[in-house]
Amino acid sequence: MSNKAKTYISELKHCVGREVTLEGWLYNSRASGKLQFLIIRDGTGLCQCVVEKGNVPDELFEQLKHLSQESSLTVTGTVRADQRSIGGYELVVTNAEIISPAEGYPITPKSHGVDFLMRHRHLHLRSQRQWCIGKTRHTVIDAIRRFFNDNGFTLIDTPIFTTIVGEDQQSLFEVDYFGSPMHLTQTGQLYLESAAMSFGKVYCFGPTFRAEKSKTRRHLTEFWMVEPEVAFIDLNGLLELAENFVSFVAEQVLQNNKSQLETLGANIEALEKIKPPFYRLTYTEAVEILTGPKTSDFLEGQLKELQSQKQKIESRIAVLEDEQKGQIKQWKRDKNAAELIELRGELSEVDIKIENNPKHAKLAAEFQWGKDLGGSDETIISQMHDKPVFVTHYPKEAKAFYMKTDRNNEKVVLNFDLLAPAGFGEIIGGSVREDDYDRLVERIKAQGLNVETYNWYLDLRKYGSVPHGGFGLGVERTVAWLTGEKHIRQCIPFPRMMDKIYI
Ligand code: 4AD
Repeated sequence: MSNKAKTYISELKHCVGREVTLEGWLYNSRASGKLQFLIIRDGTGLCQCVVEKGNVPDELFEQLKHLSQESSLTVTGTVRADQRSIGGYELVVTNAEIISPAEGYPITPKSHGVDFLMRHRHLHLRSQRQWCIGKTRHTVIDAIRRFFNDNGFTLIDTPIFTTIVGEDQQSLFEVDYFGSPMHLTQTGQLYLESAAMSFGKVYCFGPTFRAEKSKTRRHLTEFWMVEPEVAFIDLNGLLELAENFVSFVAEQVLQNNKSQLETLGANIEALEKIKPPFYRLTYTEAVEILTGPKTSDFLEGQLKELQSQKQKIESRIAVLEDEQKGQIKQWKRDKNAAELIELRGELSEVDIKIENNPKHAKLAAEFQWGKDLGGSDETIISQMHDKPVFVTHYPKEAKAFYMKTDRNNEKVVLNFDLLAPAGFGEIIGGSVREDDYDRLVERIKAQGLNVETYNWYLDLRKYGSVPHGGFGLGVERTVAWLTGEKHIRQCIPFPRMMDKIYI
């Protein structure tokens, strides 16, 4: 085969009418008499390759007919534009070469449970869903770097082994560092503050570790976080930076990953609205909303909606179960079986939501000023908004020691969380930092931390202290929000969770 004609599926649009060779894997196939339709994937996309008996040697035609999913092969043929085909182009095959057959590939096009797929993550990464998420994650990371690089920020690599507590003592991973205790980083922020006093505008971007005993859809023990830090900035400046940044990331994803978002069923229309300004609420206003009639009415309406959703799913299940009892073609039986698995999954999710609704309503109604907002509270606030919402000025006691107290109201700090809309919840946490030496010492002591270990950090308040601040955005939560993926474990190639590390 001529090397010249070798191309990628993403390049087929430039090759119409020409003979090319694709190298890839068999994603799916079906045969219908003298025709075979092979769906090939090559890492850049999917392409339907049409094999007609007589156009290729008979022996090859037979081989291809029995070729199993995920076998690797090269396919040569003429490129034809066809609107109905995946990707809009197909290959009329003239030759093919099997590189390595895949016998008994464990993941079939039928549905599998999460546990099974996670145990086969090394193979499941080849699925369309994972491919679409991975491509979107790539754009998110590229956009993050681009935004900060293009806006005068300097990248500072902060350490992964750390000597001080960056957020809270409960979620530290301790490691034995040649006989001395050390932690894996919870945040690069404290080191970044030191760099901001040299470079002005800085960011770090890397893996972050939290031993949080939390099994929710929003928690990983290892996740990626980008953290900008800026000298001479106030809370409003930080909010503006965050909304411009998040809008840029969303815009880049829309620009580069529309077809992936469509495949994933993401809400593209909602993403198109992600433009500054975002909504702004103080924590106190958020508490008023949670404990007021707006929330109880909202949750009641939601319960009704969930119940009608449940009814619809149940009647569809009944129809399919009936069909399965009768005489139907095998392909239809398989299709129904796959849909039933999906529907039962959806039903159990709706059931959980119905069960949680009154619990969340009670938690919201009884919310006491002073507590940190819980996951369900964040969900409620974010469900009520169609654009991201900043919640600012949290109670001092609920937040980390480094946050600056509001000099106009000493009970609260100059911080913010950014909640993604439509129920997704927090994607950013940030604050103005306490820049007064004595107040910072007091806060460190009040949280039971060892002041000695913070001597170098306190130096920053001794030698030319300035107002400064920053924030951290979690990559997996952002990818999950943008792609509409429910659980962030799907948004990192090899997830690490509190209860499970699969491979
Ligand atoms: O709100 P957090 O804890 O903020 C900080 O770490 C600050 N030091 C950042 C800063 O000001 N430089 O975490 C920031 C973000 C969260 O909003 C969330 O997106 C993500 O990090 N995050 C997690 N993502 C996945 N799993 C977890 N366990 C996470 N914990 C935080």
